[in-house]
Amino acid sequence: MADIQKRRIVLGLTGGIAAYKAAELTRLLVQDAWEVQVVMTQAAGQFITPATLQALSGRMVYTDLWDARIANNMAHIDLSRGAEAIVVAPASADFMAKVANGLADDLLSTLCLARECPLLMAPAMNRQMWENPATQRNVATLARDGVAILGPASGDQACGEVGMGRMLEAEELYDAIDMHFQPKVLAGKRVLVTAGPTFEPIDTVRGITNLSSGKMGYSVARAALEAGAEVTLISGPVSLHPPLGATVVHALTARDMFESVKRALPGTDVFVSVAAVADYHPVLVSARKIKKSERNLTVELAPNPDILAYVAALPRPPFCVGFAAESENLETYADAKRRKKKVPLIAANLAQSAIGADENELILLDDSGRHRLPKGPKLAVARQLIHHVAKLCTAPARGGKGRRR
Ligand code: C5P
Repeated sequence: MADIQKRRIVLGLTGGIAAYKAAELTRLLVQDAWEVQVVMTQAAGQFITPATLQALSGRMVYTDLWDARIANNMAHIDLSRGAEAIVVAPASADFMAKVANGLADDLLSTLCLARECPLLMAPAMNRQMWENPATQRNVATLARDGVAILGPASGDQACGEVGMGRMLEAEELYDAIDMHFQPKVLAGKRVLVTAGPTFEPIDTVRGITNLSSGKMGYSVARAALEAGAEVTLISGPVSLHPPLGATVVHALTARDMFESVKRALPGTDVFVSVAAVADYHPVLVSARKIKKSERNLTVELAPNPDILAYVAALPRPPFCVGFAAESENLETYADAKRRKKKVPLIAANLAQSAIGADENELILLDDSGRHRLPKGPKLAVARQLIHHVAKLCTAPARGGKGRRR
């Protein structure tokens, strides 16, 4: 592929055992057509060799402020020009302290000081180093200066201790970088998303559920975060990692989900109800596993509350978005649902091709008509949905139900 098409990123490595994750991050970025310019501190070279990063990035790796390969001897300026961001991963406590104080005594810290693009840092250090008030002061200074701090995570550390300070995994960093570049169309908004199925117990081991994987709801939560919103994700039982930065509340039954939604509602600007909420629950739940017998078993079912309809009917509802999974007559049924539940926007998808799949195709139905979102990965579709929502809920209010608070 021609180089001119590529977007450029400077990946800085400082001294830390997590440097090996930067190799994988380089690979992921290169795969996504980024031109990755690696810059390493001397200490980083104790953990991983420039040759590894050179092979993975396909470009010279720079380590020296006085590198004669840069014609004008201005490596500290030239390497970041044209770059969309500098990402420092791993960022050691020492390196963060340096940048927080404007010190520039090697190539990478000089590049950070002389940059005209955003700076993202992924801290990686022992938990005591992370918790030290000096580090915390430096992190707060960096954040105030507009530096995006990615992580750290909590977990096992190379030193044998357990706690905060582990660098995020390469895929998480890649996602965080990707998120950073999305337009902030929902900045300052609070978004509440429900996702996944619900599980309605029959006895201690059995229950009624459905095939929803939660992928669409999790993608909507992630797209809203990327768009700058504060996100609460109320999730039914799924086996997915929630997007970084979302407040996650787990709910098992529809009634749990309903209570969690009501608790999270105050201050919500947008409610996206993606969950495949069970329509009924068993009236009696056996406290023991029901024994098998030759006779028919009857389970009496009672209807569950309709969470979306409840929220949309509040006197001052957030902007409500429903999902309609239909197996036939998609638009007619979805539009009927939109009117019945009195929501300003409904996203219609075919149940048989959407549930559990990695891709989706949506038709959005709102007051102005229908809008088809092309088939693509659920995250790509969720991003388009969030853009549509942002357009609708930042439009001048006309009053009436369904408009934002
Ligand atoms: O009526 P139906 O289940 O098809 O409506 C789908 C929409 O309503 C989805 O947005 C779903 O999250 C929401 N819903 C709900 N509570 C229910 C049933 C559906 O919030 N009990």
